Amino acid sequence: MARTPVTVTVTGAAGQIGYALLFRIASGQLLGADTPVRLRLLEIPQAVKAAEGTAMELDDCAFPLLDGIDIFDDATQAFAGANVALLVGARPRTKGMERGDLLEANGGIFKPQGEAINAGAADDIKVLVVGNPANTNALIAQQHAPDVPAERFTAMTRLDHNRALAQLSKKAGVSVSEITKLTIWGNHSATQYPDVFHAEIASKNAAETVNDQAWLENDFIPTVAKRGAAIIEARGASSAASAASAAVDHVHTWVNGTAEGDWTSMAVVSDGSYGVPEGLISSFPVTTKDGRWEIVQGLEINDFSRARIDASVGELAEERDAVRKLGLI
Ligand code: NAD
Ligand code: LMR
Repeated sequence: MARTPVTVTVTGAAGQIGYALLFRIASGQLLGADTPVRLRLLEIPQAVKAAEGTAMELDDCAFPLLDGIDIFDDATQAFAGANVALLVGARPRTKGMERGDLLEANGGIFKPQGEAINAGAADDIKVLVVGNPANTNALIAQQHAPDVPAERFTAMTRLDHNRALAQLSKKAGVSVSEITKLTIWGNHSATQYPDVFHAEIASKNAAETVNDQAWLENDFIPTVAKRGAAIIEARGASSAASAASAAVDHVHTWVNGTAEGDWTSMAVVSDGSYGVPEGLISSFPVTTKDGRWEIVQGLEINDFSRARIDASVGELAEERDAVRKLGLI
């Protein structure tokens, strides 16, 4: 018997990530080859026409799993009945713009969207925030959805995770599939900390295998942490296809579970683990099973890692304080 369609709401549907993302969702890569999807697209009024064009193209792909597409410029309608919500629509950072500048520009978008999710999303709603500053935007939305369990709000650091996998695989001369237990800690920003001390390459400790502290400090960490800015510099626009791919990975892993003996990176509401203040939406090593995530416990954090985790978490606390001052939470 055909499965009941899953309703997926995507904001910023006419943007560049939206254009890379929607076709992958409709083809079944987000939720699996046996799960039909209904798309609900949210755009600002000026971009609804462009979203309609994308919807025409989605129709023209004749995806067997695509059960329907509706387009809205109203958040309450767009999130009604949503099982999965991908909050992509935001103002992207452009050349010379600091992330702090984004807080005010974007904060106003995520409050009404949190309220709309609270008002009408399905009971099993899962939210992924992609739009930057993703962690703090997720916090704003979560704070305005008091009836939705806080753990349903997550922000994307999977792109950083994938970037770290790619860099480490090149350095070690192995396939990305041989690397496990990599972690991105903290904020999706240049302060993030990609941690290889618990990672494994072909089941051996990655830091010991690579054995190159100078590379770790001067090459690996800055390359991963500043990759977003490097892409903006090179392309004149922020990453899109890789961001869409990471969003698909994030939701797919959340729904289908992490592999035995591995974990992923997700920005989730802190329960105080690893000294991250409760309530901040910070990236952690996370396992998933049956549609639920858990922070991996008991990892030993060395001094090198501690300083970097604290710096990124400190930035998240500053962002939270800034949006508090703006009255956004
Ligand atoms: P884009 O400018 O191409 O598209 C954004 C779209 O959002 C536009 O079509 C715009 O009309 C729409 N939008 C704006 N306000 C909206 C609202 N209130 N409701 C619905 N839609 C709205 O940008 P993009 O390249 O697609 O990037 C989107 C966001 O994702 C940016 O904030 C970018 O910085 C972020 N991003 C995050 C990551 C990550 O790893 N977390 C990676 C890449 C990009
Ligand atoms: C990225 O990591 O590619 C983006 O978050 C960069 C940005 O600021 O849009």
